[in-house]
Amino acid sequence: MPKRGEALIKVAAAGVNRPDVLQRQGTYTPPPGVTDIPGLEVAGTIASLGEGVTDWRLRDAVCALVAGGGYAEYCAAPGPQCLPVPRGLDAMAAAALPETFFTVWTNVFDRGRLAPGETLLVHGGSSGIGTAAIQLARAFGARVFATAGSPEKCAACVRLGAERAIDYKREDFVAVVKEVTGGKGADVILDMVGGSYIPRNVEALAADGRLVQIALLEGATAEVDFGRVMMRRLTLTGSTLRPRSVEEKGAIARALRERVWPLLESGRVRPVVHATFPLAEAAAAHRLMESSRHIGKIVLRVR
Ligand SMILES: NC(=O)c1ccc[n+]([C@@H]2O[C@H](COP(=O)([O-])OP(=O)(O)OC[C@H]3O[C@@H](n4cnc5c(N)ncnc54)[C@H](OP(=O)(O)O)[C@@H]3O)[C@@H](O)[C@H]2O)c1
Repeated sequence: MPKRGEALIKVAAAGVNRPDVLQRQGTYTPPPGVTDIPGLEVAGTIASLGEGVTDWRLRDAVCALVAGGGYAEYCAAPGPQCLPVPRGLDAMAAAALPETFFTVWTNVFDRGRLAPGETLLVHGGSSGIGTAAIQLARAFGARVFATAGSPEKCAACVRLGAERAIDYKREDFVAVVKEVTGGKGADVILDMVGGSYIPRNVEALAADGRLVQIALLEGATAEVDFGRVMMRRLTLTGSTLRPRSVEEKGAIARALRERVWPLLESGRVRPVVHATFPLAEAAAAHRLMESSRHIGKIVLRVR
């Protein structure tokens, strides 16, 4: 039986995320009290309800953000972290939504305060996170630039709505962002790279710009010119989703349902699913993610 406030989901599909790979490699420990079975997002149907869950009924088709345990046939999720499967999407597509869309919403729009008409630079534009960030920022009226590691990935970013994609292996993103913004810089930068990107991001931000750090794939430390931060009134911020409270995640879910679910149901925004694997082949799914050959999301078929 699920605990009070939780729904037990019969899992049809589970999304794969880079944090699952980091957890498997031992560099990202689950928060205290959370199962060590990987998996941060699922889609399926409600199999049973714990006490106090009133928003959902048995057999409702849902997708949910979970703190762990998604790679399984059944997975418990707090009621507020469940969302209906958007009309027109199947379970494979719906399982690709929660982790990336919750992360993008709370970082780009809540922390980053991206407003219509502003410019967003998305690093890792072809990642699961990046493909959602590009589409959402465009849908809400921002100009979007993205970095990615190959011409093919750059072309995908442009198809998703980036005005200009920057192949960071051939071009300097600071110079390109300055050029395409008439010297001004980006209003918001969503960064998962860190390390040497941190001072370069500070360089690429417009006055009053916001740098939102969501991962540190290259490294956690950097030397930054805080004179520039002060003189240009920059905000350096960031967050991790997993340890946040059910109440906070529930608030993000409500905002997504109101502002983003209509965009998914109209087809304006769509999850980009690169590949699917049976649950038993989760190791192959991780190998693909580690190869970084994918564009968008990788999803496990559970049943
Ligand atoms: N803070 C949060 O709450 C939160 C939540 C979810 C995910 N995340 C983080 O967001 C990032 C994206 O997650 P995802 O699931 O979308 O992953 P993903 O699809 O595997 O994307 C990662 C991408 O980053 C690019 N990259 C750039 N520098 C890299 C480096 N040094 N090492 C590895 N990859 C590098 C790669 O593309 P290129 O070929 O372009 O280099 C790769 O495709 C991950 O780091 C993840 O941990 C954070």
